[in-house]
Amino acid sequence: MNNFTFYNPVKLIFGRGQLENLPEEVSKYGKKVLVVYGGGSIKRNGVYDNVMEKLAAIDAEVHELPGVEPNPRVSTVRKGIDICKREGVEFLLAVGGGSTIDATKAIAAGAKTDTDIWDIVTKKDKANDALPFGTVLTISATGSEMNRGSVITNWETHEKHGWGSPYTYPKFSILDPANTFSVPLEQTIYGMVDIMSHVLEHYFHQTGNTPIQDRFCESILRTVKETAPKLVDDLENYEYRETIMLSGTLALNDMLNMGFRGDWATHNLEHAASAIHDIPHGGGLAILFPNWMKHVLDESNASRFKQLAVRVFNVDAEGKSDYEAAVEGIDKLREFWNSIGAPADLGYYGIDGSTIEEMADKTVIARPEFGNFKKLTRDDSVEIFKSSL
Ligand code: NZQ
Ligand code: ZN
Repeated sequence: MNNFTFYNPVKLIFGRGQLENLPEEVSKYGKKVLVVYGGGSIKRNGVYDNVMEKLAAIDAEVHELPGVEPNPRVSTVRKGIDICKREGVEFLLAVGGGSTIDATKAIAAGAKTDTDIWDIVTKKDKANDALPFGTVLTISATGSEMNRGSVITNWETHEKHGWGSPYTYPKFSILDPANTFSVPLEQTIYGMVDIMSHVLEHYFHQTGNTPIQDRFCESILRTVKETAPKLVDDLENYEYRETIMLSGTLALNDMLNMGFRGDWATHNLEHAASAIHDIPHGGGLAILFPNWMKHVLDESNASRFKQLAVRVFNVDAEGKSDYEAAVEGIDKLREFWNSIGAPADLGYYGIDGSTIEEMADKTVIARPEFGNFKKLTRDDSVEIFKSSL
């Protein structure tokens, strides 16, 4: 392992009925609250009413920013920043999924500076402070509820970038699995693919001696693999939702990657595809991840893939080379995602070969090489996108 410092200050409040804690948590930070949410799912499933009732109980002055898009736009973030500055907002409450939480992180940072938030997202400048914020999570996927990361899209320039700062950890996150019952089948599948992809991004690294981290990762992958087929047939099962919700949080709260940095090339490829085609994050990952694997697999790194194949996908490696076992494992990952209904090629979203060059350009916009397990260039992006058509 490399030397590391682990720090995660998010108070995780998990389980049925935990929204009860909202008044007490919010009142620690102020009464002027901006509630940030998406396209209306929280109004249909009752979460909005519950949250408003709890905020009324502490006489909060409530402002609202509805309409955060999946793949949240910087234009919406700017609207939120304006509200915060104009109304003297003291606390932000994100009620929704990764998009709502990520937008809230950007609003929180933008409200404390005159720098345009896009300069912070694109790392031309840094956040030096942020308003405090909490989250009520309604979909299991990104892990944004317990990390400092935020991914924002600029639809004018067709760019999608991840950023984060020590100031953008939520103060608390309330996770009630019952609030995810209404997540439609398709989004449920995307969420589970995203969770597995985060673990896989961690798994592919080049640092020696990480047996605990490996087995943490494998245990989450096996658990999601076991639970996913049951959940897709029984969307309102509390225990399955609970298992997936905790998996999602643990997959990206920096506990799995203590002492090393994972690969993250596939996320870069997916962000490039979404920046142009606005596809769902988990759908893009399902298409790209096995193709990234096949693209980077070689004799020198096959043992890592073989370990995954044997320990997670039950590949019998007896009498096979590492490379052969690795390929079998990658095929099993594809089969598994197909079996739960995830997409397998870009054509599913109507993407043909005509935008490959444009997508490839986006993968190297921040730096000419990307990926930590194996360094990739723009040419690699073109090949991986081509193999994903
Ligand atoms: O907008 P509403 O109406 O709320 O509907 C949402 C949205 O259409 C719906 N939904 C959420 N909870 C629901 C529900 N529908 C019914 N019932 C509920 N309880 O689901 C749809 C997707 O929501 P979204 O927030 O976009 O999904 P997700 O959590 O997957 O977030 C995706 C975004 O997060 C970024 C992605 O790139 C993408 O922009 N990521 C953020 C990360 C982070 N901050 O750490 C890491 C990830 O790798 C990822 O890149
Ligand atoms: Zn992701």
